Amino acid sequence: MLVLGIESSCDETAAAVVDEGGLIYADVVASQVELHQPYGGVVPELASRAHLTNIVPVIESALEGLPGGIRDVDAIAVTQGPGLVGALLVGLQTAKALAWVHGLPIVGVNHLDGHLLAVFLKRAAKGVADPERPVPSFPFVGLLASGGHTALYEVRSSADVLLLGQTRDDAAGEAFDKVAKLLGLGYPGGPAIDRLAVSGDPRSVPFTAPMLHRKGLDFSFSGLKTAVAQHVQAAGVPADSAAMADICASFQAAVVEVLVRKSLAACEAQGIPRLVLSGGVAANRGLRSRAQELCDEQGVSLFIPPVASCTDNAAMIAYAGAQRLISGADDGGEIQAYSRDPNRRRGRFDREGTLITKKVSNTK
Ligand code: KG4
Ligand code: ZN
Repeated sequence: MLVLGIESSCDETAAAVVDEGGLIYADVVASQVELHQPYGGVVPELASRAHLTNIVPVIESALEGLPGGIRDVDAIAVTQGPGLVGALLVGLQTAKALAWVHGLPIVGVNHLDGHLLAVFLKRAAKGVADPERPVPSFPFVGLLASGGHTALYEVRSSADVLLLGQTRDDAAGEAFDKVAKLLGLGYPGGPAIDRLAVSGDPRSVPFTAPMLHRKGLDFSFSGLKTAVAQHVQAAGVPADSAAMADICASFQAAVVEVLVRKSLAACEAQGIPRLVLSGGVAANRGLRSRAQELCDEQGVSLFIPPVASCTDNAAMIAYAGAQRLISGADDGGEIQAYSRDPNRRRGRFDREGTLITKKVSNTK
């Protein structure tokens, strides 16, 4: 089964073709980074307009490699949320139109499910899938750290995801972006801080890793951002590159430590020795290496997708959609865009975001 995936939830217009086993046939991403750079963050209206301009060429480019073009596609999967509603609508309406014209089944995909399942994608080099990269078995603990979300999940199957903890304020990627902005490093901040942190001393500024010693699996990053702002207010924006590298390394180390420690606490609490990192922040080199170090120490198997599958892409949407199709889903044209994840409370939820309450036994 070949699935055309379409993603337009934020500032990347993306289309991909993936089979039900996760093998990527095409993976096209048109980034809007330059468009939003002058504003230091994503401007929703500009994002929607750029999606409108980019969506058709991006889909055409994804279909280019298929001998029969869209005639070789068996189904369409599209991100329905969470995200910027105006941006989502561009992908959704395009997907609905294509599905209608070509008589294809269509499924709506939760963007967060896409991130959590991206670890199963296989990139083919010279026509051969990367057999070396091991994939986790279910259940696994999934850390999702992106620009909009930071949460821990127990992923029991592609259709059964339990929220274990989440940020109470900013997402980790948002903290990277805001700190980079106040250090004058531009947008997006994550890659810039990652690059500079490599040569810095993580102990030079003693930022506290937030919530590290608190019980539970929630995160909080807004206090750390304020601590960096206060440091910059008192000491000024670092004038030389060594001092800049030091502050980046110190901030990044605090974020990384809490992300990794809480993820391992989740593995222990759930009795699951498998951890998957996902979302744009999982591209961070400091996070990848610290997670490997602590997982090795604690006997937990670590799985991290390649960087291109961590940041927003449509291959993960196509794969998650393929899993929904295999389990019998076909949303027809009845897919609504939503801006916030309906599954933000702890517990198990159905696809509509309704809490599945525990069955109470009447027999006492
Ligand atoms: O998953 P993603 O591409 O989009 C969302 O769904 O939000 O994540 C984007 C976020 C941005 O905040 C960006 O700064 C962060 O991921 N990011 C990184 C790195 N690459 C991207 N953060 C830290 N280190 C990186 N190398
Ligand atoms: Zn994302």
